[in-house]
Amino acid sequence: MALWGGRFTQAADQRFKHFNDSLRFDYRLAEQDITGSVAWSKALVTVNVLTREEQQRLEQALAELLADVRENPMQILESDAEDIHSWVEGKLIDKVGDLGKKLHTGRSRNDQVATDLKLWCKFQVNELITAVRAVQRALVETAATHQDVVMPGYTHLQRAQPITFAHWCLAYTEMLARDQSRLEDALKRLDVSPLGCGALAGTAYPIDREQLAEWLGFSSATRNSLDSVSDRDHALELMSHASISMIHLSRFAEDMIFFNSGEAGFIELSDKVTSGSSLMPQKKNPDALELIRGKCGRVQGALTGMMMTLKGLPLAYNKDMQEDKEGLFDALDTWLECLHMSCLVLEDIQLNSTRCKEAAEQGYANSTELADYLVAKGVPFREAHHIVGEVVVSAIKQGIPLEQLSLEHFKQFSDTIEEDVYPLLSLQSCLDKRNAKGGVAREQVTYAIEQARARLA
Ligand code: ARG
Repeated sequence: MALWGGRFTQAADQRFKHFNDSLRFDYRLAEQDITGSVAWSKALVTVNVLTREEQQRLEQALAELLADVRENPMQILESDAEDIHSWVEGKLIDKVGDLGKKLHTGRSRNDQVATDLKLWCKFQVNELITAVRAVQRALVETAATHQDVVMPGYTHLQRAQPITFAHWCLAYTEMLARDQSRLEDALKRLDVSPLGCGALAGTAYPIDREQLAEWLGFSSATRNSLDSVSDRDHALELMSHASISMIHLSRFAEDMIFFNSGEAGFIELSDKVTSGSSLMPQKKNPDALELIRGKCGRVQGALTGMMMTLKGLPLAYNKDMQEDKEGLFDALDTWLECLHMSCLVLEDIQLNSTRCKEAAEQGYANSTELADYLVAKGVPFREAHHIVGEVVVSAIKQGIPLEQLSLEHFKQFSDTIEEDVYPLLSLQSCLDKRNAKGGVAREQVTYAIEQARARLA
């Protein structure tokens, strides 16, 4: 049953109907549409459109419908209703007859869909916060178990200075903590109810919208009806938060793919999250991580798509806005799944601490230490930097690390170098020295783990 038949004498072309209908994707708003309808029915009692008894019958029928939907959500897709709002109303009329036709008094699908979507977003944001926290927890626990695994830290993908695997884990924990705080912040703006704004100009019934908002679990009602039915900032905002977080996850994935490569060999991914090659029997491919990296693209695409859809739209509601859902659902589903996968990947990674340490030793990652040593002995830093560069070239020629060069050899480059240089060139010393807040020294890392655990408890 179409909601708007009276004005029309011809049936819709089937191809147009398919093009126009949104049920095949907005069926996911069923619960929210029912919840919104119950609240609206209560509001209609306050303005004498429904009697208390009628409202109770409607609420009862809506409760039954909710139970049906929860039991079998896919039944919705068997209907040829235009959208989830028509579907709920149609089902209600099937259950209670003409009384069901009173529910839409003073309401429009425009304030209805805006309300449904915000309710859905609020629910989904909480799911996402839980998932973002789970990945942080997995990272922190991985850090705690691998506090002493030394590996090279990179800039330009060149071995730069030694770090620990724990320190690397904690870097991603920070990114996800910011993702979490962005979600928490988004909740504040999501928490305002558009219901009771009608089609665009407000509802003609003297409804207490603040009370209505409260019934729906919103902390207040929106201030302007035109804005309320045409605002999709929350969709943009969540897709933008998803995009940023997916960028974090894609970098996490890329680092791990590299760590897992034959060239690095720092970690080995579990069989549970890798796949084989149909041709090359030796292969174990990091598919889970590659998909996390790859799926980042579609999330950015959904955000850009929706921004372009909303750009230049005149006030108030336009059908263009129906395009908000598919991208948003896909972006948030994808993000949630990638968060879950990230936990799974971390669950049983194996570290090869020997390989990690060798790589840290081989990359001349302690060159900065030698320069700092010269500076401490009074050599200006620029000069020290140059001297160490020459020492490194010579060590590379011999194929040995700095700490294995003889003192005589060192002295060819600078007289100031003495026996006391050797302890400073050890990996452990490189780490220990970086003991200011946020540094890689064990004391700082242990403190960071404690702090993160407390935040995530
Ligand atoms: N299916 C529509 C959407 O998702 C519901 C709102 C329809 N409003 C309208 N005036 N046609 O946006």
